This record gives sequence, structure tokens and C-alpha cells, in this order.
Amino acid sequence: MGTRNSGLGAGDAELATGNSELGTRDSELGARAADIDLSVRIGSLTLANPVMSASGCFGYGVEYAGAVDLSSLGGVVVKGLFLKEREGHPAPRIVETPAGMINAIGLQGIGVHRFVSEKLPELRERKATVVVNVCGTSVEEYAEVSRILSDAEGVHAIELNISCPNIKEGGIQFGCSLMGTHDVVSAVRKVTSLPLIPKLTPNVTDPSSFARAAEEAGADAVSLVNTFLALAIDVESRRPKISNGMGGLSGPAIRPIAVRMVYECRQAVTIPVVGMGGIMDARDALEFLIAGATAVQVGTANFVDPFIWNKIIGGIEDYLRRHDIARATDLIGSVDMGKH
Ligand SMILES: Cc1cc2nc3c(=O)[nH]c(=O)nc-3n(C[C@H](O)[C@H](O)[C@H](O)COP(=O)(O)O)c2cc1C
Repeated sequence: MGTRNSGLGAGDAELATGNSELGTRDSELGARAADIDLSVRIGSLTLANPVMSASGCFGYGVEYAGAVDLSSLGGVVVKGLFLKEREGHPAPRIVETPAGMINAIGLQGIGVHRFVSEKLPELRERKATVVVNVCGTSVEEYAEVSRILSDAEGVHAIELNISCPNIKEGGIQFGCSLMGTHDVVSAVRKVTSLPLIPKLTPNVTDPSSFARAAEEAGADAVSLVNTFLALAIDVESRRPKISNGMGGLSGPAIRPIAVRMVYECRQAVTIPVVGMGGIMDARDALEFLIAGATAVQVGTANFVDPFIWNKIIGGIEDYLRRHDIARATDLIGSVDMGKH
């Protein structure tokens, strides 16, 4: 990615659904040396390695199955799901920005019922570790979607999207209020025993207080960051560059802020923290792990390089070997914040 323009290059249509023509399967994926233990734990769930796809940037996973061995990822986090199908915002819905992109897809999706009947069987067959990103416009909807997913075979964890910055109702409304966060998490906790991972917004002064609220309400982990509320204006027309006006900023531009927030949350809670925001390579992923993330998610980078997974997972493994560290878990939170 350059400094002026990210060169992301992915068409809008690909973003919501994933791209089904990505070429041949990467045969190296999945073959990992036994001497390094990459596995990490999120609640009762063991991930084979700490690298997951970020919601909304990897379709429902199945669209990428021709190119990526889904079972080789630590987890496949699928696009956010409401109870019903949802159209999302009209185009233009994405714009490239310096070292990143702004999107306001508007949580377009097929709804939980179609996901369970049309996508989950293939994810099961491909032995993916499936994390479903759950959305809602009310506490009841979050709970209902989560209940349906808990009854379905092949869902391994629920990520609660209380942080989407670009929809009118739901999402960030809950994630920007400590009580809203607590209410959603405790309501969903009552209906599922699946690992529960509320996804936090960075659009607050102190994300760690939200991590604490989530932990108190029974979360097994928290993930962060969702996108930063942002605005890009076309100076000729003096209109926003995307139809929704505001959108969410992702990509390398946000990484140092995201790493800081992950570090702070790690200090504030005892449950695992899943980190994301601008990870483009193994070194970026390692930064999050060292800051305190138990696992990471990769979003925008997948639009640039859909074959990125093996490079990131392999790069983490190489690093551990080079530093004589036998287990990925030994790296988590190992940052030395002493003065230079
Ligand atoms: C096109 C697009 C769609 C997204 N859709 C969702 C979504 O449905 N649910 C969600 O929780 N986050 C969604 N996100 C946020 C990402 O999962 C991630 O938190 C964010 O992009 C930061 O990571 P990145 O810089 O690696 O992309 C979306 C991001 C993008 C760019």
C-alpha cells in the first residue's frame, strides 16, 4: 500500500460476497511443522493458529474455498448476520484513502436462516472453525440470532457486532454505551454456551472500560477494533465520496491506534483479546500478539492479496522458530513497555 492511495483495487461487489474466482488452491496451507505450537484458546475453543479472517472481508468463507484451505485458518469469521436478509446501502459504498479505505456497506447480508441452510453445510464439510458475526437492531434480535446459531451444527463461536459505525439502528448504539454493551452481552449469554466475543468499537475514549463491561456480562473474549467513523469529501462536488456520507475507516492507517487499544484492553481484563486493524503481513500480526492479543483478524488486506493467509501464518511460525519460542501463547502480551 502506498502512502497516498492504498491500491486496494477490489470491486464493491466482491466486498460483500467474496470472490469465487480466485484461482487455484494454495497447497502449502495446512502443512505445519510439529515443533512449533501455534494453537491458542478463546474460552472453550482451541484455534489451530491465531489468524482469523475479519468479518465482512471474507464473505461467508465459502466464496474463497477454491483458493484457500478454510481449515488452515485459525477461524473464519463470516459477514455480519441479522435475523432477516438486508440490502445494505446503495453504491458507492467504498472509497480508497491514504493507507486504507472507508466503507459503508450497511451490513448487507442473507440473514441467519439462509446462512444456516445455504452456507453452514459447506463450511462444516470444509472443516472450518466458524465464528459468526451477529448483528441486531434490538437486544432481542441479538439474542434470537445467537439462539438460532447455537442450535445449528458447525458454529464454533459468536462474535457480537455492537460496533458497526455505519448503520442507523443497532450496532454502535449498543457498543458506545456501557449499559448497552452489558445488556446485549448478558442477554446473549443466557441463550448460548458458545464462546461469546463482543466486538468493540474504537469510536470511544476508553475501549478498555467497554471490555470490562463485556467481561462482567459474561463474555469469553473481546475483539477489537471495528472501523473508525470517517468522512471523505469530493471537493469538486462538495459531496461525500460514499452514498451514506460517513463510513468506517480500515487498513494500515488505523493500525497503531488499534494496537494501543488492544494493549489497553489486555491490561484491563482477564479474558482473551482478539486484535485487528490494518494487519497486512506477519510482522503486523506479531505486533498485536506481543501487545496482548491472543488471536488476530485480517480484513482489508484480504482485498489486496487473497493468498495472504499462508504468508501470515507461516511468518508467525518462522518468527517463533527464529526466536526459539515453542508456543504462540508464550508471545502473547510479551511487550516490554520499559523506557528506551
Ligand atoms: C468492507 C468491510 C465490511 C465489513 N463488515 C463488517 C461486518 O459485517 N461486521 C463487523 O463486525 N465488522 C465488519 N467490518 C470491520 C472489519 O471486520 C474489521 O474490524 C476492520 O476492517 C479493521 O480491520 P482491517 O483494518 O484488517 O480491515 C468490515 C470492514 C470492511 C472493510
